[in-house]
Amino acid sequence: MLCSAMLCGSAAWAGGEVAIDYLGTANTLVRVEATAGQYLLIPVEDNGPEARVEVMVDGRLDRTIVVRVANSKVDYKVPMDLSQYAGHTVALNVYTEAGRSNGRDASSYVAWKHFEVSDSYSFAQEQYRPAYHHSPAYGWMNDPNGMFYKDGVWHLYYQWNPYGSKWQNMTWGHSTSTDLIHWQSQPTAIEANGLGAVFSGSSVIDARNNAGFGNDAILSFYTSAGATQQQSLAVSHDGGITFTNYPANPVICQTTEARDPNLFYHEESGKWVLMLAHALDHEMQFFTSTDLKHWTLASAFGKGLGCQDGVWECPDMFRLADPTTGEQKWVLLCNINPGGPFGGSATQYFVGEFDGTKFIPDLDANGQVPTKWMDWGKDNYATVSFFNAPEGRTTVIGWMSNWQYAPEVPTMTYRSANTLPRDLSLFRGADGQYYMASVPSPECDALRGAVVSKANRKRINAKSASFALPADGLCEIRLTIDADRAESVDLTLSNVEGNYVKMTFDPKAATLTFDRTHSGITDFNEQFPVNSVAPTFNADGTVSLRIFVDRSSVEVFEAAGRFALTNTVFPISPYTSLSISATGGKATITNLHVNAIKL
Ligand code: FRU
Repeated sequence: MLCSAMLCGSAAWAGGEVAIDYLGTANTLVRVEATAGQYLLIPVEDNGPEARVEVMVDGRLDRTIVVRVANSKVDYKVPMDLSQYAGHTVALNVYTEAGRSNGRDASSYVAWKHFEVSDSYSFAQEQYRPAYHHSPAYGWMNDPNGMFYKDGVWHLYYQWNPYGSKWQNMTWGHSTSTDLIHWQSQPTAIEANGLGAVFSGSSVIDARNNAGFGNDAILSFYTSAGATQQQSLAVSHDGGITFTNYPANPVICQTTEARDPNLFYHEESGKWVLMLAHALDHEMQFFTSTDLKHWTLASAFGKGLGCQDGVWECPDMFRLADPTTGEQKWVLLCNINPGGPFGGSATQYFVGEFDGTKFIPDLDANGQVPTKWMDWGKDNYATVSFFNAPEGRTTVIGWMSNWQYAPEVPTMTYRSANTLPRDLSLFRGADGQYYMASVPSPECDALRGAVVSKANRKRINAKSASFALPADGLCEIRLTIDADRAESVDLTLSNVEGNYVKMTFDPKAATLTFDRTHSGITDFNEQFPVNSVAPTFNADGTVSLRIFVDRSSVEVFEAAGRFALTNTVFPISPYTSLSISATGGKATITNLHVNAIKL
């Protein structure tokens, strides 16, 4: 059934249709009788002005949301599920831009003619929606939240706006996967409540019932973002599908800007540890607890250390091992925005020791705490790990975007995707320091489809050698470059339109530069078309790479994970060719494989 809006004017509303009443220059009432299985489709203008919308049920305020209710054009419609209000009258009290004197302001919005009630909703398939990376069914997404693994299922929650494709109305959206690659959209997990919007956080499985909510309850901690930022708890008894807020929230109250609680269990001390980002003070606070409800501040880390730009957000901490020596270290993730090596947001990390209450960072040869980056592209932020990943793995996922331009990227009905899942370990650099290695999680091997191009060994000179990529552009590329006498080696992904991504290996500097200045649509923000550069951590003039290309991203991994470089791209059409050339002498490539992606 589809039922369009009726403009009531002064006539009384008898129910049945969507009724629109203009209440004033900036105030309009949208009314509907809610029925199970129906959606109210709200017309949105992507760049339109924000309207405050009070959702009233039988005249009582249920919640307030912010929606870019279509003013001059309708870009798409977002669904409000009416099932939750079945049998009641729902009224959206819409406050559009105020402050103008024209008495017809509100009535001139195109939205009013386009509200509808429907049994279903759908969104256009967009060109840049990833084929094998997680993205939200619709609406804006940022940080991954509260990820955990239980009974064969990976749970990924995320910062989500259910009412538009720009940041607002922060809610925990939810997706699940049994293979870390294919994701199933789940019902909304945690919604805004009296304490505010639901910002980032983490989940634990309370296997020993420390909190008293029952064995194996899922406890999700998040930041309640109202007038201030406080830390709250929501509990799930059905394995993470539905959540109930803990009535005694917030569990940690502070007066400074503090957010994104991240929890882990510290075996040696037998205590739960909660890390909290003091965003503006550039420090991470450590709290401990035995019952997950009462928290004691134990220490703080970070003032004056590492990159001090921007805000500190989304902490995480875990123990990693060096597979060659078995030595273990604690690694503390600290997401910063802005201040990343190539502008905007990025993930820095510290390696060190943790005794259950205090983190002590390792020092470099000069006695300083070094700044280390987890990823050398511009599009890997808010990276955090899954709680309880199997076989002691540390598996992470990041938000594949950058706060500099995330709201402006050329997608419409959804915005942003996640990185491929990555497994982490440690390696020792030539400077004796420990660094973090990230490789695509082993589950990504299942994506490897038919061989499209292959070369066992090929000498490369200034004239480029070309290799076909699949027609849909989706592929995994593996190769080893021995620069030999060459000063640099270029790998170029290109399409028929002349869009290209150029990756340049400089053996002397031991760097890989990623140039996306001609990658396709780049003009939506001047911070987008810039180069990013990764150290290859290799002095012998060679580098082995593993590159994943999706519809709007390129992820480059050194084969052993010594660097990762993640960038989004928006080519006019898919890249269908890989060309390789060398300058200043000949180079050799070996074991080149281009594989189609098996979906
Ligand atoms: C990081 C962040 C978090 C916050 C969330 C709000 O990207 O700013 O600190 O919880 O986004 O959406």
